[in-house]
Amino acid sequence: MKNIILIGFMGVGKGSVAREMVKQADIVAIDTDDIIESMENRTIKKIFATDGEKYFRDIEAKVAKWLEKSVKNTLISTGGGFYKVKNLKKIGTVVFLDSPFDNIYERIINHPKAQSKLKKRPLFQDVDKARELFNQRHPLYKEIADVTISVTDKDVETIVKEILKKVKL
Ligand code: S3P
Repeated sequence: MKNIILIGFMGVGKGSVAREMVKQADIVAIDTDDIIESMENRTIKKIFATDGEKYFRDIEAKVAKWLEKSVKNTLISTGGGFYKVKNLKKIGTVVFLDSPFDNIYERIINHPKAQSKLKKRPLFQDVDKARELFNQRHPLYKEIADVTISVTDKDVETIVKEILKKVKL
């Protein structure tokens, strides 16, 4: 089986979908942000604050190379900017979780831990800037994806069933 890579904007639910997928299918999941935080032994927020975005993107590229070389049969959830790594398509089948910005924002602010969800995301500190970033990225996510799944107003169980129908495990 090829790896499955979940891409999409911050807050769209890549992590929740990955956790549900592990429940429904015989698959192990890893997350690129978790890998980066372990490698660096500090949070993404700290990495951005201390060393800036370029430094973070360089680590993403390093993780991408390792994934391509060493990871098989795995579900990989990613940070919202990971889709830009040069070798993305070589890592596995790319699944884009798609939803309009307003729905994503609503999903975050309605979450019981909304404040911490926003705080830990350096690129979601200002709603207008986040919306602009979303508008820039949206066509690029679609373009690079092998499969696009619309997730608006769907529960995770349904989303995972749709992914499993479209992607062979
Ligand atoms: C980023 C998204 C974040 C994290 C970092 C940068 C982005 O992950 O990788 O803050 O560029 O969109 P989530 O998509 O899990 O929030």
